[in-house]
Amino acid sequence: MKHPSKRQALQLGLAAVAAATLALGAGNALAQGAKLKVGLMLPYTGTFAALGTAIENGFRLHVDELGGKLGGREIEYVKVDDESDPAKATDNVNKLIKRDNVDVIVGTVHSGVAMAMAKAAKDSGTLLIVPNAGANAVTGPMCAPNIFRSSFSNWQPGYAMGEALAKRGAKNVVTITWKYAAGDESVGGFKEAFEKGGGKVVKELSLPFPNVEFQALLTEIAALKPDAVYTFFAGGGAVKFVKDYAAAGLKGKIPLVGAGFLTDGTLPAQGADADGLLTALHYADSLDNPKDKAFRTAYAQAFKLQPDVYAVQGYDAAQMLAVGLAATKGDVGKKAEFAAAVQKATIDSPRGKFTIGKSHNPVQDMYLRQVVGGENKVIGIASKALADPGRGCRM
Ligand code: PHB
Repeated sequence: MKHPSKRQALQLGLAAVAAATLALGAGNALAQGAKLKVGLMLPYTGTFAALGTAIENGFRLHVDELGGKLGGREIEYVKVDDESDPAKATDNVNKLIKRDNVDVIVGTVHSGVAMAMAKAAKDSGTLLIVPNAGANAVTGPMCAPNIFRSSFSNWQPGYAMGEALAKRGAKNVVTITWKYAAGDESVGGFKEAFEKGGGKVVKELSLPFPNVEFQALLTEIAALKPDAVYTFFAGGGAVKFVKDYAAAGLKGKIPLVGAGFLTDGTLPAQGADADGLLTALHYADSLDNPKDKAFRTAYAQAFKLQPDVYAVQGYDAAQMLAVGLAATKGDVGKKAEFAAAVQKATIDSPRGKFTIGKSHNPVQDMYLRQVVGGENKVIGIASKALADPGRGCRM
């Protein structure tokens, strides 16, 4: 057989390039139909372990309601236990981004861990939906077209509780929390509204996360005799704080109020020590809307557990992802289209309908709740359609 001429070789080469290009195109098309890899980066151990499980349950519940597919693609889950440890956060998120090549990351609970995740998502362009962690910066200076939150900013429940407590006439308040972004920012939101309403934060107490040695601080509160105490604690730490507050003889003497995490998902373990506590949050146990009723029934049936705010946030992370992927037909690369669809959506949440603000944080009602008979009952709306200021967000 004759060797091909130079010209024939060139034509063959071009044909090969064209074939390769076609194959690549087909590969992309295949990728669209391939499973959607969802990286769940959540705490499965430590003081926030139950919160991580509730988020995952809520997320899976909505995916299952949609027949196991989002944007036409079946879901494959990859899980990482972040242990609520900021020191391990960058390594952990890079396992999902670089090793597992996930399409989207859903996580996490702890604000310090979430900050590292937001940075990695911003640098790599990976889609990130935060189903709890309230770090203000995630929808502030760290905001990005590919970063969304289905939960709240730390400022939001704090601000709502500050407004409500000022209206109730409290004047001098002591705050107590864990010394990290969530505690600081929750207290910051509270203080902003409470002092605007005429009150004064007379002392800010804190201890390192996740310590639960509250005794010395409770002794200090007893000596200070404020009109009320505002607190941010959550998960296992919230259970112990409420029990220790009562055991120290402060319950009934100095009203304890908080961001609603203090009593959400924790009431069975807190028992009567939580009775009467007043908190502000974007969810409650006695909401009278059909979506919540259906959600609570389905959740209890699927997991043999009562849902809480974390389960709702996981469920809504899946709702937001579903909205974005429906608009892009399952293509996570179409970031502008994804963001536009989520931003114009109204999410029919068990918490009540909400929208997503410009910085990608929920604009939502904050309920004033009181613990009655083992439930967080709504006693009013502390702030209607409260939007986080999103200070410093420039996309
Ligand atoms: C947070 O670290 O942002 C955080 C953790 C637990 C909560 C709420 C916020 O319940």
